[in-house]
Amino acid sequence: MYTNTFERGMRAAVLAAGERIRELFLSKDLDIHEKSGPGDLVTRADFEATEIALDLLKSYFPEIPVIGEESGGKPTEDKCFYLDPLDGTLNFVHGYPNFAVSLGLWKGTKPLAGIVYNPISRSLYFANLDQGAFKNGSPIRCSSKASLESSLLATGWPYDLSMTEQNARRMKKLRNLSQDVRNLGSAALSLCYVAEGILDGYFEEGLDTWDLAGGAIIAQEAGAVVSDFEENIFDLKKGEIIAAGKGIHHMIAEVIRNDHS
Ligand code: 2AM
Ligand code: CA
Repeated sequence: MYTNTFERGMRAAVLAAGERIRELFLSKDLDIHEKSGPGDLVTRADFEATEIALDLLKSYFPEIPVIGEESGGKPTEDKCFYLDPLDGTLNFVHGYPNFAVSLGLWKGTKPLAGIVYNPISRSLYFANLDQGAFKNGSPIRCSSKASLESSLLATGWPYDLSMTEQNARRMKKLRNLSQDVRNLGSAALSLCYVAEGILDGYFEEGLDTWDLAGGAIIAQEAGAVVSDFEENIFDLKKGEIIAAGKGIHHMIAEVIRNDHS
């Protein structure tokens, strides 16, 4: 049933963590703490999901280190996991049901597999390198739009407030060229929505490795072009991404690069 030895363990980890997040969300058992500022929060769900996912990953893959948003760890040149136990914590806290558990398996600069689980819709997105992307077991493809005019885009605000103006200019330009630009509050789910063609394109900067490690390969395997803002190959450590169908990816990149006027 599983196409790859990694899928079984990764799937077990995100499903178990996600189901605990779902329970805490439905019972409104939050226990909120501020991290770097009022929009950067951590909750009991982030910590419990971390514990659950780490335990399962350790039992399936004792030799592979895990770099986690709430658990730390140092990336290696060999295989390692990047875990965001709860991507979209601010949504979670507000009762906005758009958040996910995100897990990526990378070997140095190369993605090998990614999995993202939305525990509210119970949607599970998975991709293995060179084997396509799947939602709940069915293949998914990104959109094939050839113009921004008929495209729905998404972004997120960089957490560094000094970057707000620049992102606002880019959003305004792209909003005027497209149908709209959303801010969904979860990088991992935004990438999955590009993968399944709900969104036509997504761009964001100032992110961490764990925000992008799972979703980037899912978008790529669904046929999207995934790059940095210069249209170079996506670099997990750079924290910036454009993921879009090949018909509009370059147009988004051009607007981002020419955002000075
Ligand atoms: P989080 O909910 O796991 O923190 C929203 O634009 C995206 O930014 C989300 O994926 C969110 O992930 C992420 N994010 C939130 N705080 C961040 C921070 N301080 N640095 C980088 N990314 C952050
Ligand atoms: Ca998180």
